[in-house]
Amino acid sequence: MKTIHLKTPVPGPRSVEIAARRAASVPRGVSQLTPIFVSRSEGAVIEDVDGNRFLDLAGGIGCLNVGHCDPAVVSAVQQQAGRFLHTCFMVTPYESYVRLAEKLNSIAPCEGPNKTLLLNSGAEAVENAIKIARAYTRRPAVLCFEDAFHGRTMMTLALTSKTHPYKSGFEPFPGDVYRVPYAYCYRCSYSLSYPECALHCAHHLEDTFKRVVAAESVAAIIAEPVLGEGGFVAPPPGWLETIREICSRHGIVFIADEVQTGFARTGRMFACDHSGVRADLVVTAKSLGGGLPLAAVTGRAAIMDHTGPGSLGGTFGGNSLACEAALAAIETIESHNLCRRAVELGERFRHRALRWKNDFPLVGDVRGLGAMQAIELVHAGPSRPPASEEVRILTRYCYENGVILVTAGTYGNVVRLLMPLVISDAQMDEALDVVEAGLVHAAHRQREHAGAV
Ligand SMILES: Cc1ncc(COP(=O)(O)O)c(C=O)c1O
Repeated sequence: MKTIHLKTPVPGPRSVEIAARRAASVPRGVSQLTPIFVSRSEGAVIEDVDGNRFLDLAGGIGCLNVGHCDPAVVSAVQQQAGRFLHTCFMVTPYESYVRLAEKLNSIAPCEGPNKTLLLNSGAEAVENAIKIARAYTRRPAVLCFEDAFHGRTMMTLALTSKTHPYKSGFEPFPGDVYRVPYAYCYRCSYSLSYPECALHCAHHLEDTFKRVVAAESVAAIIAEPVLGEGGFVAPPPGWLETIREICSRHGIVFIADEVQTGFARTGRMFACDHSGVRADLVVTAKSLGGGLPLAAVTGRAAIMDHTGPGSLGGTFGGNSLACEAALAAIETIESHNLCRRAVELGERFRHRALRWKNDFPLVGDVRGLGAMQAIELVHAGPSRPPASEEVRILTRYCYENGVILVTAGTYGNVVRLLMPLVISDAQMDEALDVVEAGLVHAAHRQREHAGAV
């Protein structure tokens, strides 16, 4: 039996009515990727206010690895709501914060012994990781990567690469931030190919230390082990290890931003686990909270303990409901072996998407790690011009036909998969049938466009 069920054209009348109120009451800067409003959700399914049922391949942008309304998460939150909601961990603490810190300390890809600080959002956690690294090293500079995304606060915008829509108009940003190319092999900044390049982009950091910023001035290098917003770029073997080694050589704190890659998305609990690289600090958020807002900085105790009482924290950081939700979500990931499921889902997608690459010139690249998979759409030509308009056509076709997808990439020409890992094979196939029909539709529009030019 099919999951997708559309009772009305999308958007339906009730969504259209709320959208008009939204336009009048919410700033334009908050984007709206689909024109529907949600009434309920479960597993990999979202039902809108018009009674239409969608398959969700976006998972609230990667926050629902355990699925919508995971029963264990819902039950933990309900029970906690009956005990107390908020006391502020800094005023009258509670055990769930400590239990979650202990859990993260034991599973995070850091050398240990570790300590964990809890916060509300990925951006807030990145900000804190930078504060901690600067305090520990007593150095000012931070190195980050092209095509990186680390958040929308001022420091994290400085670290984020994409100018539009994130940075433009919000300048100036905090200083002493330097950016170098990521290992984006499909669009290599040095026009080299792996493995002949011998990881030139990573080794080139030594040159950056001579020509741009001295190594002894650099507090931290922050990297996503797989680019998220930047287009689901998994660096080739050896890249992360080389960055780690360069940090160790120069006494630089290595921060792994696992906000999007963490909690089984890539087929391991953390993306760093694939290479065995241990970071000094690891930032997590998104799927940590199982659907509730929560983020963490986990890292070597010697670094984490460097700043004095009162220097870290926040009113709601590690809220009791979010801690209980996170403990339940991690338990679900482990007991349901969602890492293995992520690998299966990734393979299921790749099997199909590699056929698309053969059949549609529009599909330039199929890539990713585990269930963190994407396709990059391009026009013909040696520079692989980004097919951003076709991605818009495809995502629109998909939501109009019952599948919710989000895009990525500096040029907005990547379609990424962040489905709940509890999606069934039948649901996955049903969703991919719609994506395939959407590709046929977008390719047709591309041919029309080429004909018109
Ligand atoms: C890798 C990465 N870091 C940080 C962030 C910021 O997280 P938040 O939106 O929770 O502030 C994101 C969000 O997409 C992300 O993907």
